[in-house]
Order: sequence, then C-alpha cells, then structure tokens
Amino acid sequence: MNILAIESSCDETAVSVVRDGRFVLADCIASQVDLHRIYGGVVPEIASRMHIEAIYGLADQAIARAQITRSDIDAIAVTYAPGLIGAVLVGVNFAKAAALAMDKPLVPVHHIKGHIAANYIAFPELNPPFLCLVVSGGHTMIVDVQDYTKMQILGTTLDDAAGECFDKVARVLNMPYPGGSALDKASQDGDANKYSLPRSKPGTNPYDMSFSGLKTAALNLIHHAEQVGEELDIPSLCASFSKAVSDTLIPRIEMALAQTGYKNVAVAGGVAANSTIRSDMQTVAEKLGVHLFLPPLNLCGDNAAMIGAQGYYEFLAGNIAGMELNAYATKSILGESI
Ligand code: KG4
Ligand code: ZN
Repeated sequence: MNILAIESSCDETAVSVVRDGRFVLADCIASQVDLHRIYGGVVPEIASRMHIEAIYGLADQAIARAQITRSDIDAIAVTYAPGLIGAVLVGVNFAKAAALAMDKPLVPVHHIKGHIAANYIAFPELNPPFLCLVVSGGHTMIVDVQDYTKMQILGTTLDDAAGECFDKVARVLNMPYPGGSALDKASQDGDANKYSLPRSKPGTNPYDMSFSGLKTAALNLIHHAEQVGEELDIPSLCASFSKAVSDTLIPRIEMALAQTGYKNVAVAGGVAANSTIRSDMQTVAEKLGVHLFLPPLNLCGDNAAMIGAQGYYEFLAGNIAGMELNAYATKSILGESI
C-alpha cells in the first residue's frame, strides 16, 4: 500500500511516499529554517505562506522520486494536529483536495504519533508494545505504546517542553535558531558537572516532569554572569544544561521500564537527536538489559515519512476522515484521532 504523506505543522514542508508503513520510497523536505532564523524563531504567518508555495511542487517531486504515478497512490495521510494552526491547515487542505481529486481515502495523523512511528521506518523489527520517550519542541512525554494506534501517557511535562528550553537557552546564548542542535554541538568539550542546575520533581505523579525551573535557573545564571562581567564557560554551561535535561528524563524512563516490564524502549522527536540524552539512554538500556531504539538523526526532526508510517497503521485501524476534517493547534495523542 502506497501512502502519500503530508507534514506542515511547523517550519518544514514535507511530502513522502511510504509503502506498507515501513519503506520510504521518497522523502522530500523544504525547510524554512533559514527564513525564520532572521527572527530568532518561527513566524507562524510566514510559515503558512511558505507551506502554500512549497507543497504542490514537493508533492509532484515526491511522486516522481518514488518512481510511481498518481494512480499508484492508495491513500493520503496528513498531520492534522498539533502544530501552528495556519501551517497545519495548509497541509490538511492540500491533503483533502488531493484525496478528493484522486478519490482516495484521507487518513488523519497526530504529529506526535508520527514521531513515534519514525522508529518503525528505522527498525523493521520494532512492534508495539514498547515504551517511548517523546522529546520534541512542543511535547515531552513518557508514552506506553500499547498498540500502533492505542497509547497511554505515563507522565508529561507540567510546563515547558524540553525542546522549548533548549531553544530558549540557546537563544539567550546568541546561538542560531533552532538552538537545540547548536547548544548540543557547543556542549561537546564541556564539563557537565561545572554548573549546578536543578532537577525538578513536580506534582504527585512520579513520571511527570518540569523544565521551567531549569530554564529559569540557566537564564538567571547567564544574565547574572553578564551583569557582574563574569566570563562563562559556554561548552560547560551547555553540557551542564543538557545533563540536567537528561537527568530529568532518564530516571523516569528507568522507573517506567521497571513498572511496565517492557524490554523495548524507543526515543522520538527532535530532541532525540541530543547526544547526551542518546548516550544516557544507551547507558540505562545496557544497565537494565533492554533493547533501545534510537532513530537516526534525519528521522528525529519533522519529516513526512513518519506521517506515512503512522498513516498506514491508522488506515488499518479504520481511521479515515471525510472532507469535514479540520486542523487543530492542540490535541492529545489519546483517544480517537478525529
Ligand atoms: O520534534 P520537533 O521537530 O518539534 C516538534 O514536533 O515540536 O523538534 C524540534 C526541537 C527543537 O526544539 C530543536 O531545538 C530540538 O528539537 N533539537 C534538539 C537537537 N536537535 C533538535 N535539542 C537538543 N539537542 C539536539 N541535538
Ligand atoms: Zn515534530
């Protein structure tokens, strides 16, 4: 089954052709990062306009690269939530028009479920159930992936997402947008023990997390150093910050693995590219004797292949939308997708 998959929830327009949820025939991305970098972050209105300009050509390109014709497409999958509303709407409307014109089923895909499904592309042997650490720009969650479409959230951030904090701290350190990867690179030769930063334990659910205190502590440290004229050791500050994020995530994953008894754990989302989190996940997986699935870097960030992968399983579960499908800025991964 060939799925034409569309992703436009943030600042990447992406169209992919995915066969049977696992094989990527074509993966086309038009990144807007250079455009938004001028402003230090995504400008939603510019993102929507750029999606409109890119999406038609990208869809044609994806079909050509997949070496198929339009008639070989069996369904259209699209990110319908969550994301920048104007941006998601462009993809949803394009997908609706394509589904109508080609008389093919329209499959709505939750963006975060897509991030989790990126692992199905990288690891053909991975099937639910498994535990997944979701760390993206807008979400940070520990998810019990019970089935391809059925999930339970064990814990979530009560405030900022990990990616948001990476971006904010990087921005204050004058690193280019998107800051997470720049901060990660800068941390490579740093001493992760040099700066003392908090690891919060919020609320009553031991799996819940909080990152706003850590973000504020890092920002205060930077501003204080500026005010008193102290020169910061940037690599060590970046390493200490990355370690504090990782130290917030890893013990909860360890606890969740013990509670669920799962032997498979995956990581998903843009922040899954972080080198400290990747190596700490490897350490904990070896310690517990569980199998770790770390997607390659090109499948961590936003792409349409992951939407095609999840779209296949949504289609099998009967999750087909009509022309009334809408886009949503926020939506939980729980429950029915529509
Ligand atoms: O998953 P994603 O594309 O966003 C959402 O779906 O929300 O992830 C983007 C986030 C950004 O916050 C970006 O700075 C962060 O992932 N990121 C990283 C790294 N690479 C990307 N954060 C930390 N370390 C990295 N290497
Ligand atoms: Zn994403």
